[in-house]
Amino acid sequence: MYKLFIRSLLFMMDAEKAHHFTFRLLRFWFAIPGLRFLTHRAHHLRQPGLERELFGIKFRNPVGLAAGFDKNGLMIREWGDLGFGFVEVGTVTPKPQAGNPLPRLFRLPKDQAIINRMGFNNDGLEVLTKRLQKAQRGRLIVAGNIGKNKDTPNADATSDYEKCFEALHPVVDFFVVNVSSPNTPGLRELQEKAPLTALLNALQVLNKQKPAQKPILLKIAPDLTDTQLDDILEIVQTTGLAGLVANNTTISREGLATEKEKVEAIGAGGLSGAPLRARSLQVLRYLRAKAGPGLPIVSVGGIMTAADAVERLQAGADLVQIYTGFVYGGAYLPKRICRAVLKAKV
Ligand code: FNR
Repeated sequence: MYKLFIRSLLFMMDAEKAHHFTFRLLRFWFAIPGLRFLTHRAHHLRQPGLERELFGIKFRNPVGLAAGFDKNGLMIREWGDLGFGFVEVGTVTPKPQAGNPLPRLFRLPKDQAIINRMGFNNDGLEVLTKRLQKAQRGRLIVAGNIGKNKDTPNADATSDYEKCFEALHPVVDFFVVNVSSPNTPGLRELQEKAPLTALLNALQVLNKQKPAQKPILLKIAPDLTDTQLDDILEIVQTTGLAGLVANNTTISREGLATEKEKVEAIGAGGLSGAPLRARSLQVLRYLRAKAGPGLPIVSVGGIMTAADAVERLQAGADLVQIYTGFVYGGAYLPKRICRAVLKAKV
C-alpha cells in the first residue's frame, strides 16, 4: 500500500518538498480525532522481549529514528505513535542556519539510496529546546544530536557543542555528538584524536557538574580506517563515553547501480541507504570484536528491511536506527522490525 500509492506520489515530488509534505500530512493525520489512538494501536507491539536497558535508560523497543529526519523536534509524540522506541532530534546548532543552497537532497531509487548535502539546516538551539520542553513524549526516548554552526571555526567548536549540551541537558534523555557529517566543511577533522578528546572531555566536565548525568554517545563516519576506529575506541575509554552511533552517511560512491553521469551531476554529499548496508555491518562487527560485549553500539546505515535490523542485533548492536529505510519502506517498518526481533529472539 505504501510503496504502491504513497511512495509513488511522494517520489513524483522533489525530494526535499516531499519531506516537508510528509511532515504536513502526518501532522494533519494526527490532528483528526481518533486517528492518533488508532495509529498508535496499529503501529505498536508491546512485548517484554522488545525492551532494552542501556546506559541506565529503558527503551520500549530497539528501533530508533535516525538524526536528520526530524532535525527540529517537530513531531516527538507522533514518532512514538508510529512505533519507534526512540528518536534522535537534530543535528542542532547554537544559532539557526539555512544550510546549503537547494537542491541538496536527491533520491537514487535504483540503489534504494539518498544523497544529501543539507548542511545542518535547522531552527537553532533555542527553538528546539522550547519545542522539547512542551513535547509530550510518553515512553519515547529522545536523544539530542549536537553540532556546530558552519561559521564557527574548528578552534572554537567546543563552545558550540557546550552551548547545545547545556541547553538540551534538561530536555533530552541522552546526547549524540556529531563530528561525522560530510556536509559541514572541516567538521570531520574533529574526529582526530586530539581535538575529539578535548571536545568530549569538555562535555564530560559539564556533565559531571549536573545533579543527574546524561549519557553521551559519539556518532562516527563509515569512512574511518581500522586504525582510526581503534583511536575512537581508545577515546571512548579515556573520555568515559556511554557508547557509539555507527554510522553517519558515506562520501564513497562505490558500487552504485545509478548511472555514473547522474551520480556525478548530483555532486557532493553523504550517501545513505542500501549501499551503506555492508560497510555499516562491517564497522559494527569490527567495533564489537575489538570492544567486547560491554560497549553500547547503535547501528545505523542501510537498514532497509526487518531482516537487516535483525542481522545488526545478531552482530552485536544494542539498538538500531533507520532513516533511508523509512523513506523507502514506509511507516510500518518499525513494527515489521519489532515483529522480526521477537521472532528471532534477539
Ligand atoms: C542524515 N543524517 C544525519 N545525521 C546526523 O547525525 N545529523 C544530521 O543532521 C543528519 N541529517 C541527515 C539528512 C538526510 C537527508 C539524511 C539522508 C541523513 C544521517 C542519518 O542519521 C544516518 O546516519 C544515515 O542516513 C545512515 O542511515 P540510513 O539512512 O542508511 O538508514
